[in-house]
Formats: sequence, C-alpha cells, structure tokens
Amino acid sequence: MSNITWSFADRVVAITGSAIGMGEGAVETFAAAGASVYGLDVDAKRGRAVAERTGSTFVECDVTSSAAVLAAFEQIATRHQRLDVLINNAGGFWEQNTTESISEIEWDHVIDLNLKGVFLCARHAIPLLRQSSAGRIITISSLAGQTAIYQSSPAYAAAKAGVLSLTRVLASELGADGITSNAIAPSAVLTERIKVVRSAEERAATAASIPLGRYGGVDDLVTWMMFLASEEGGYMTGETIAVNGGRFMS
Ligand SMILES: NC(=O)c1ccc[n+]([C@@H]2O[C@H](COP(=O)([O-])OP(=O)(O)OC[C@H]3O[C@@H](n4cnc5c(N)ncnc54)[C@H](O)[C@@H]3O)[C@@H](O)[C@H]2O)c1
Repeated sequence: MSNITWSFADRVVAITGSAIGMGEGAVETFAAAGASVYGLDVDAKRGRAVAERTGSTFVECDVTSSAAVLAAFEQIATRHQRLDVLINNAGGFWEQNTTESISEIEWDHVIDLNLKGVFLCARHAIPLLRQSSAGRIITISSLAGQTAIYQSSPAYAAAKAGVLSLTRVLASELGADGITSNAIAPSAVLTERIKVVRSAEERAATAASIPLGRYGGVDDLVTWMMFLASEEGGYMTGETIAVNGGRFMS
C-alpha cells in the first residue's frame, strides 16, 4: 500500500479492474485514505474479497457492457448523488501477436476492453462527476500506446493510444466543469499477472532495459493516481504521465 498521506475522506472513487494488480492496489490505498471506494470488475470472487478486506464496495461489472456500466454508476448515484474520481484501470490483452496473426475476434475483444470500456465508464460517470467540486478522470494507458514495443498486441497498442486521445478530448470537453482528465502510461509493473506470464529470465531482461533498473511496483503507479486525484493536482489536464522508470522518454 502506498505511504502517501493525502486524505480522501468524503471522496467517492470508482476504480475499474479492482480485483487484482494495480486496481487492487488503488482500492487499498484510496480506501485507507478515507474514500468511499467502488471497485468494478468481472471477477466477482476476487473483487468481493478485495472489497471485504479494504472496507470498499464491490460492483460486478463488465466495462464493455453499456447496461452493466450504467447500472454500476446508477448504484453510486443512488448512494452518493455524485462521483469525485473515476480511475479507468481495467485493461490488458490475452495473446501476443502481430497485425498479420491477430484474429478479428481478439482484435474486437481487446479494443472493447481497453478503449470502449473507457468510453462507456467516462460517459456514464460524467453526470456524476459534474456534481463533484473537483471531478477527476484518470485513465491507465501503457507504454504500448506511446511507442511500438515488442511482446505486445496491435489491438492493445491501438487502444492504449486511443485512450490518450480520448483523455485529451475529455479534458477539453469537461474543463469548464472543473473536471480534469489525465492518463498514466506504465511500462512494466510487477503485478501478480506479470509474475505468472513472464519467466524470471524475461523479467531480468526487461529490468535491465529500464534506466532505473527495475520493474515498477504497484505503489509506484498508485502514488501518481493519488496525485492526479487530489485537489492539489487540479491544474493539469489532458496530460499523460509516463511512470516507466525511464524506459521511454518522449
Ligand atoms: N502490469 C503492467 O506491466 C502494465 C503495463 C502497462 C499498462 N498496464 C495497464 O494497467 C492496467 C492494470 O494492469 P494490471 O497489470 O494491474 O492488470 P491485471 O491483469 O492484473 O488486472 C486487470 C483487472 O481487470 C479486470 N477486468 C478484465 N476485463 C474486465 C472487464 N471487461 N470489465 C471489468 N474488469 C475487467 C480483471 O478481472 C482484473 O481484475 C491495465 O489497463 C493494463 O493494460 C499494465
């Protein structure tokens, strides 16, 4: 859990992809900072366990389903009549492939999760964010959306680039409402999933390619989520923060 000491008492925070990884870390940290946290995930078993442990609320929700996303934000509206922070964290891909090898089904699936899911959550959150004194949208992109990297997926790269553009569009549309929209682009973060899908040799090679010499930890990312969510971070919008140990410098 991040050691940052900002208070989020009385703030209402929705975090997608809350069951594991960075989303789980964000739920833990925002809940410990006093926020009313809503974790949205398709993995009900793990999501509920995280919620019980952290005193947050779990909402079973597939972010690619308009009806499910609408129902999730209606639940928040009924209880709080507003939302202060939306963290679009759910994302990922299943197969490393190329433009030649990716199936159309996989393409659609990855685009739906990483791009459409962000659109749907933002669309249904906006009316509630307008009721906040300092609304915040934070979207987790990727190094893969900033530059071409190997060991990735063309659909994932396209979607993660797409959310950077959507981040700027939202910033432009919502600035007059005092709502900021920013993105975080991690590179390699040592989550449970990465420990399973990357061998020790692969992880060592990746770490060696990073100027700071190591994978990011979940807390390295959650710290930036907290800053962007804070009232103090309120005069920056439409930006992408590369939290990547120096692996890619633009
Ligand atoms: N881990 C990394 O190295 C890394 C690097 C760059 C970017 N990212 C991005 O950071 C974010 C978090 O990554 P992570 O590694 O912690 O992810 P993870 O794979 O560990 O967890 C993703 C979570 O999203 C949930 N999820 C999947 N599909 C969903 C859906 N349709 N609706 C709702 N929830 C769904 C999963 O159940 C899971 O709880 C993702 O957007 C990912 O693309 C991760």
